[in-house]
Amino acid sequence: MLGPIPAWRGRPIFVIKRSADLLSALNEDPDRLTDPDSQELEQPSYAQNEYRSRTPDVMVLVGLCPHLFCSPTPHIELKPEPFDSEWRGGFFCPCHGSRFDLAGRVYSGSPSSRNMEVPPYSFEGDSCPRGWY
Ligand code: FES
Repeated sequence: MLGPIPAWRGRPIFVIKRSADLLSALNEDPDRLTDPDSQELEQPSYAQNEYRSRTPDVMVLVGLCPHLFCSPTPHIELKPEPFDSEWRGGFFCPCHGSRFDLAGRVYSGSPSSRNMEVPPYSFEGDSCPRGWY
């Protein structure tokens, strides 16, 4: 993972490289999510897809919780966490306990009712940066 970096309008940005294992875990259980298909407009049109990104392997998110704007903590690994025994990677907000998957989609029952925001972004050239996590 690269970030958070203060990169857009003074807001922290998370840039995450998602492995094949992380990508396959993304849509294992969409019933746990409040807005699995990103129907609310929290991303540019080019990121309104199952990965919420321009390319599946690189995720770019505003690093703020939509509830009251604390900074969620990345918990990238696919392993049980104290706040979720079935954790499949994502972000946990320490302020009031909102949980988000690795596409920034909020889990049902979280204080936040919205997915994390995807900022407008693009890559220089045709290829994405590689080798960072
Ligand atoms: S600010 Fe994140 S859960 Fe309240």
